[in-house]
Amino acid sequence: MDIIGPQLDRTSECEAVLRTLPAWFGIENALLMYKEDTAKLPTFAIKQDDRVIGFLTLREHFPTAWEVHCMAVEAKSRGKHLGSQLLEHSEEWLRKRGVEFLQVKTVAATSKSTGYAETRKFYEARGFVPVEIFPELWDVWPASTILAARRQLSWPVGGGEVLLSVVDVADAVVGLLRGFAGERNEPCLKS
Ligand SMILES: CC(C)(COP(=O)(O)OP(=O)(O)OC[C@H]1O[C@@H](n2cnc3c(N)ncnc32)[C@H](O)[C@@H]1OP(=O)(O)O)[C@@H](O)C(=O)NCCC(=O)NCCS
Repeated sequence: MDIIGPQLDRTSECEAVLRTLPAWFGIENALLMYKEDTAKLPTFAIKQDDRVIGFLTLREHFPTAWEVHCMAVEAKSRGKHLGSQLLEHSEEWLRKRGVEFLQVKTVAATSKSTGYAETRKFYEARGFVPVEIFPELWDVWPASTILAARRQLSWPVGGGEVLLSVVDVADAVVGLLRGFAGERNEPCLKS
């Protein structure tokens, strides 16, 4: 099992992964955008027998504030800690670049989607915290979006460590998001 990236040119294989997850990536235009973005944005992928079975695409908003833009592990390989490995690997890569905040947008608990309940469980178990619901962020699923931000990284200062509080991070990320309100934000939702 290898992790490759962050430059990736395996769009067809990433598309194949997305197509195994119709409950999350059921909107064709969004799926194709995520596919193409794997070649445009920093993307890490897990390979098994030279086949991509999961990937994570990152997006930079500011040098210190990045986002998990898309993440997927093929349906039959879910729950085997591949997603956790991808996230840890990506965080290490970000940490080396001095990134302080990592956010992810996903569907809020106000939705009845059981799939996205699993998604939230995944992120929350890995330290992400809900920050705010943005009802109009994705018009395909009103009142169902959430921003989760993570108290992501620590770094040595004078031999010690600085850890930001969740509140600090939440304020900062919400502020950032408000600045991006008009920017493209595609959901990975079922239609
Ligand atoms: C979210 C995702 C990338 C995580 O990758 P993964 O390899 O399945 O995750 P891991 O095996 O590292 O961790 C699994 C965790 O997910 C959560 N989970 C809940 N139900 C699950 C299920 N039916 N299958 C898999 N994971 C589940 C749990 O928190 C579990 O943690 P645990 O091991 O402590 O029980 C992957 O499951 C996936 O592609 N999901 C569908 C698409 C998606 O939600 N993408 C992200 C949002 S766009």
